[in-house]
Amino acid sequence: MLEFIDSHAHYDDERFDEDREQLILSLAEKGVKNVVNIGCTLERSEKSIELAEKYPFMYAAVGIHPSDVGDTPADYLEKLEKWAENPKVVAIGEIGLDYHYEDYDRDLQIKFFEEQLDLAEKLGLPVVIHSRNATEDTMNILRRRGKVNGVMHCFSGSAETAKQVLELGMNISFTGVLTFKNAKKALEALAVVPMERLMLETDCPYMAPEPHRGKRCDSSMIVNVINKIAEVKCISQKEIADITAENTRRLFFKMADKV
Ligand code: NI
Repeated sequence: MLEFIDSHAHYDDERFDEDREQLILSLAEKGVKNVVNIGCTLERSEKSIELAEKYPFMYAAVGIHPSDVGDTPADYLEKLEKWAENPKVVAIGEIGLDYHYEDYDRDLQIKFFEEQLDLAEKLGLPVVIHSRNATEDTMNILRRRGKVNGVMHCFSGSAETAKQVLELGMNISFTGVLTFKNAKKALEALAVVPMERLMLETDCPYMAPEPHRGKRCDSSMIVNVINKIAEVKCISQKEIADITAENTRRLFFKMADKV
């Protein structure tokens, strides 16, 4: 059986309320070796830690998503720092910029992004970065830092942007978007990402790959993404699963005091 890691999931999401426990416990027999549950708000970061503490194969990232910065209290950094001491917390994320909706506060998003990048650097933790309709600002902020230890999640940019992200030393992670019929741009980006920088994720419950598009996603569906990459890169499914798992372990699980 193919075994793989889901580097970015949201099992605290309310869409899993009905059958969370049952679903999570069924993942191992579907080939899911590890899951990193990613925080979006203070509350959801705390829930990510709870899940990671409950299930040995799960890990957590803590952070404030750019869409949620407006509702976050000023002392959030102290909380994140405290939580990051937990051995199951392996990253700061997801953090970044999201200019998709009209009512965003660009300055506040940038402030939170910079502050959390600083925190990750201070703690020696990798970052999980979310960038949506904000490539220019995201890349400018990251470039000013030189090298960045982290992953660009749910990558949706161009091949050119992918190259710039790789130059920063970052990994690039793809979701089920790769399997969509209009995935031309994502596939072009995939083509420039070397295997040793590639990671896989579901971003579940969102982004279910074909043929499940539109349904609730879970980590087992990464198989569909692996099949697509195998087809495009002409590499076996097993090699893709193994190499991306190793890349994820190197980024998240090989910190001095983790795992
Ligand atoms: Ni996410």
